[in-house]
Amino acid sequence: LPTDYYRVGVLTASDKGSKGEREDQSGQVIRDMVAKIGGHVEQYAVVPDEKDVLRDTMKQWIDEEKLDLVLTTGGTGLGPRDVTPDAALEIIEKQIPGIAEVMRMRSLEKTDRAMLSRAVAGTRKQAIIVNLPGSPKAVEECLGEIIATLPHGIRILQ
Ligand code: MTE
Repeated sequence: LPTDYYRVGVLTASDKGSKGEREDQSGQVIRDMVAKIGGHVEQYAVVPDEKDVLRDTMKQWIDEEKLDLVLTTGGTGLGPRDVTPDAALEIIEKQIPGIAEVMRMRSLEKTDRAMLSRAVAGTRKQAIIVNLPGSPKAVEECLGEIIATLPHGIRILQ
């Protein structure tokens, strides 16, 4: 695995988490995993499931803070408040369908409910954005399938 320095943002979409009513375990799982590929979490936020807030946070982290990778967790399902993929699609320039396909394909071996995640991935400027589902278990399973390949994608974008 490469040992380059990657600037990472972790964005947790959670109404409860943003009100301090739930500990962000999924965000912590992401932190532990990105550390292993030389990722440094320079931005972190827990925000409510609001499309504009999610979109503007991702945009600022990429355009102003110059992050290389933004990983979101939560809000990918079918609930009325689940809008993370919709927020991402408003600022993604090129989709990377294969990332979402691999996550769903491998996750389906574990649970049929993986088909209910609407997660997307894509590029904006120098950065890759990836939506992960909300539960810590789902984060570990999905990120585990793609994380080794992300550094190569990031390098190509620089
Ligand atoms: N993917 C994996 N690998 N493991 C899981 O447990 N849970 C699924 C799915 N993807 C799951 C998964 C479930 S139950 C849902 S509802 C969707 O992700 C969306 O989750 P989210 O709304 O928390 O983002």
